[in-house]
Parts: sequence; structure tokens; C-alpha cells
Amino acid sequence: MSVIFSGVQPSGTITLGNYLGAIRRFVPLQEEHQCFYCIVNQHAITVPQDPAILRQNTRNLAALYLAAGIDPAKATLFVQSEVPEHALLGWVMTSISYVGELERMTQYKDKIAGRGESIPAGLLTYPPLMAADILLYQADYVPVGDDQKQHIELTRNLAERFNNRFGEVFTIPDIHAAQVGARIMSLQEPTKKMSKSDPNQNATIFVLDEPDQIIKKMKRATTDSDTQIRFDKENKPGISNLISILSICTGKNVAKIEAEYEGKGYGQFKQDVGEAVVELLRPLQEKYHEYIQSNYIDEVLDAGAIKAHEVAAKTMQRVNEVMGLARK
Ligand code: AQP
Repeated sequence: MSVIFSGVQPSGTITLGNYLGAIRRFVPLQEEHQCFYCIVNQHAITVPQDPAILRQNTRNLAALYLAAGIDPAKATLFVQSEVPEHALLGWVMTSISYVGELERMTQYKDKIAGRGESIPAGLLTYPPLMAADILLYQADYVPVGDDQKQHIELTRNLAERFNNRFGEVFTIPDIHAAQVGARIMSLQEPTKKMSKSDPNQNATIFVLDEPDQIIKKMKRATTDSDTQIRFDKENKPGISNLISILSICTGKNVAKIEAEYEGKGYGQFKQDVGEAVVELLRPLQEKYHEYIQSNYIDEVLDAGAIKAHEVAAKTMQRVNEVMGLARK
């Protein structure tokens, strides 16, 4: 049995990308492993958040985790800010990080673009906090989408650096990469990943979008002036993204989809992709509406915080001892 950790930010309603690249994959792992799934609200505040909306998004995300099939009897579901060790170890990880390596992170460079002088320092120190999230639980594997690969690499480097300086405290985690759906692209700019915070609403399918919104967004998806439905990421990024989505939703492989749509137009294809996404999300949406009305969410998160804290406190105690932060 391995230890698994992963987190999702309550920085908006989760997207089809978050669902396919991460949350959907968490479910089978809970059957065989010790899993910690976190709502990483302290990461969300690295950009300004409205407090009431952040609170609501945290609740929504908990309901979505449960609706996706996370079972609190098998996995620990909790909120990052309710386990103070995340911030404590985050500071330690920030202290052993180098500014240069943090400035090289692609996500940092993307997120500071256009912010002028007002760059929140949290955007730079986000990866050491993410390293702390993972290392507190001595995770062996971290199931994340492709966009987080660089942060997992940094986590490994920080864990090794710490272990070399202070002794073997941390397990060195590995990425648990997705076979499919590792990077769902924006519907409007298919060379960019689909993101919760994309200002263009047509670029993103949110998992709680209504069926007609999903179909409309799919119909407006950027494609190309060619007419062939063929997987070619380089020259046909839009169509390739839609083929990937259809493949995940239906379980059909790319070759089969290409063969089925030979000689058919983009209009029908986009309609079919939209309908397949609607069907994929239908059970998730139905269950979400049941959970979001209930007090069950609070019971799960309260119990999750206690369980997560038990594990995190042990690691933090060890860190304080080896670093000389503990007085006795
Ligand atoms: N487009 C994507 N395709 C596949 N996986 C994705 N993930 C994110 N976007 C895609 C994966 O979803 C998990 C949770 O991500 P996050 O909430 O921690 O933040 P993020 O990676 O920064 O996601 P967003 O949607 O782009 O959020 P914002 O806009 O707030 O920054 C991770 O496992 C991630 O890999």
C-alpha cells in the first residue's frame, strides 16, 4: 500500500481539465492506497479571492470530490487551512528554496504575466508550500495533471536537499501521471491548457455547466480551416483536443474516432463531443446537488482535518527536532 497525496484549489468551479486530469483519477486509487485529498485553499489566496466566494468554492469542491466518488471511509478529505502544519512546513520549504529555482517555474512565469509591479509574493512561494503539502504525509505518489510536473520535480529536489542536510526525514514522491487527459486544452486557444481562472468563459468547460452551455461552448471551440477530423497536436491542436476529450468520454481510441468521422464535418463532430461531455458529467452533477444541500460535507471535513493532522503533526515534530527548532 502506497501513500497518495493530491490537492485541488478552490479558485473557482473545477473544470473538465481538473476533473479528467486529477479528481476522476483519485477515485480508484482509494481502493488500494492510503489517500489524502486536500482542498488547497491557501494556494488559492496567492491571487486575490473574495472571502465569501472562497468559502463557497471550498464547500462546492468538497461536494464535487464526494460526487466524483471519494469515499471518506477510504480516503482522508480535508481543507488545507484546517491543518496548520501545511503553513509551518511551507515556511521551512520556502527557507530551503532558492529564488532562482522558484523564478524558473513555468506556472510562476505564466501567472505574473501582465501584473506589472504588483506580483503577489505567494505566486513565487507557491511551489514550496505545495512541496510541504506532499511531504507532510510522506506521499509516495502524487496524481496530478501534466502542468504540475515541474512542481513535483521541485518537491523531489527540496526533499532530497532537506534529507541531505538534516537526515532522512522525507519520502521522495513520484508523479502519478495520467495515461489520458493529462492536459486538456483551452477550447478557445488550444495551445494553452484549460484553466479555472481563464477570463474567457468560452475557453473552459466547468463541471457544473448546464448541458446547453456545454454544447454551445463545444460548438464555438476553435478548430482550423481544414475539414479532416484527424489527431495532429502540432497542426490541428483544436481538433486533437476534442478527439482526446471524446476518447476519454466514450472509451474509444483515437484511431476508431478518426475512422468513424472520416468524411464527416466539424459541426456534427463538435455536437457529438458536447453530448459525450454532458453524459460524462451528468452523474457527477446529480450527486453534487444532493451533497451540497447536506450537512454531511461538514462532518466529512471535520473528521478529515483530525485524521490529516495526526499524520502531519508527526512529520512536523520530526522536522522541528532535526532542524533545531524544537527546544527539547
Ligand atoms: N487543463 C488541464 N488538464 C488536465 N489536468 C489539469 N489540471 C489543471 N488543469 C488541467 C490538474 O488539476 C489539478 C488541480 O489543479 P489546481 O486546482 O491545483 O490548479 P491548476 O493546476 O493551476 O488548475 P487551474 O484550473 O489552471 O486553476 P487556476 O486557474 O486557479 O490556476 C492538478 O492536478 C492539475 O494538474
